[in-house]
Amino acid sequence: MTARILLVNGPNLNLLGTREPEIYGSATLADVESLVTRAARDFSLEVRAVQSNHEGEIIDAIHAAREDCAAIVINPGAFTHTSIAIRDAISGVALPTAEVHISNVHAREAFRQHSYLSDIAACVIVGCGVQGYEFAVRRIASLLAE
Ligand code: DQA
Repeated sequence: MTARILLVNGPNLNLLGTREPEIYGSATLADVESLVTRAARDFSLEVRAVQSNHEGEIIDAIHAAREDCAAIVINPGAFTHTSIAIRDAISGVALPTAEVHISNVHAREAFRQHSYLSDIAACVIVGCGVQGYEFAVRRIASLLAE
C-alpha cells in the first residue's frame, strides 16, 4: 500500500497568491498543493491536501490522518502562535510532522516568534518560500525510509 502524507494549510492560506505577495510570494494554494503532490510522487508517497480557516476542522483532519497517513506536513498559519489544541492533536496522533512557514517568522513581529508546534515537530522549515513545502516532503520521506 502506498504511504500517504496529510498536507494541512491553515487560516488565510487559501488567499496565497494575492495575500501580501511581498511576504508570501505569488504562488497560489493550488500551486503549493501540486508542488507537494509532485515532490511526494518522487518518493512514491500520496498526498491528501486540506486547507481550513477553522481550528476544529484542522484538528479533525489531523485525527483522521491516524487512520491512513504516515506523516503530516502542516503550515498552521496564525494558529501556530495560538493553538494548544492543534499541538495536542499532533501529539495525540503521534505522526511525524513537518512544520512549514513560507515567511521567515523570526524576522517578523514578536508574536510570530513563538510556535506551539516546533518542539514536537520532526522538523521546522521557515523562510524558504513555498519551496519549504518541498523540503518538508523530502525530509519526511527520509524519516519514513529510516
Ligand atoms: C505563516 C506565518 C504566520 O505567522 C502567519 O500567521 C501565516 C503564514 C507563514 O507561512 O509564513 O498565516 O505560517
